[in-house]
Amino acid sequence: MGQIIDGKMVAEHLRKGIAEEVNKLKRETGLVPGLAAVLVGDNPASQIYVRNKRKACEEVSIYSEEYKLPEETAESYLLTLIEKLNHDEKIHGILVQLPLPKQINEARILRTVSPLKDIDGFHPENVGLLVEGNPRFIPCTPHGVIKLLDYYGIEIQGKEAVVVGRSNIVGKPVSLLLLHRHATVTICHSRTKSLGEVTRRADILVAAIGRARLITEDMVKEGAVVIDVGINRLPDGKLAGDVDFENVCNKASFITPVPGGVGPMTIAMLLWNTFSSAKNSKGF
Ligand code: GUN
Repeated sequence: MGQIIDGKMVAEHLRKGIAEEVNKLKRETGLVPGLAAVLVGDNPASQIYVRNKRKACEEVSIYSEEYKLPEETAESYLLTLIEKLNHDEKIHGILVQLPLPKQINEARILRTVSPLKDIDGFHPENVGLLVEGNPRFIPCTPHGVIKLLDYYGIEIQGKEAVVVGRSNIVGKPVSLLLLHRHATVTICHSRTKSLGEVTRRADILVAAIGRARLITEDMVKEGAVVIDVGINRLPDGKLAGDVDFENVCNKASFITPVPGGVGPMTIAMLLWNTFSSAKNSKGF
């Protein structure tokens, strides 16, 4: 049985460090970092994310505002709210929870968030900076994945990394981060032929495709490091990752559980990006 990567513990450790930094910033400069989270509609998973974000902010003394808008919100209303937050001096980070309802053009919304307050790193300018290898804000979940590998002393350089999933939120950015750390990176997706043949090459396997238990034991090389970014709701209401944990854990050298693996890291990195945005806004 491989070693369990305890994301809950690592995230707690990181949050302690962030709380100390936030308090030091307050003491020395009077500046309080502020985060605005915008949630449109009542997607149950999104509601949980946003609630957890608020709690985490309180814990590290980051000021937070929450905007809960109805499912039928017009795009123009959301654009106006974002413009207002762009100019609000108390707010250093703006998070628009995805996915958005159908009547709203997601790309237009993400382009409207000021790139200097885009703590998700989803604005095209910030995506460009990341591609270039000179990121302003690293997307939170991919950043959390790298932090976990580093915390457990897992070497990335020269390794075969296989990422299953190509989303803008996780698959693409985590592939870039692994590439910048000198891994040989392969990206697979729903139309990849012989997925198992590719995943079996992985020294580091990142599953971020959103299909419950898609990655089975036969698709994993003995001793691989397996990072599960999936959070899927099963018909019986239970949560499952993209990896068949029960079986894969016997083959992996390190493996993240769901829940308690990557999930808690995402929020810790969001707090970090908000703190870093506040500092940068004043040139500290
Ligand atoms: N939906 C799922 N993950 C994320 C995230 O990291 N940020 C935002 N804004 N929406 C998400």
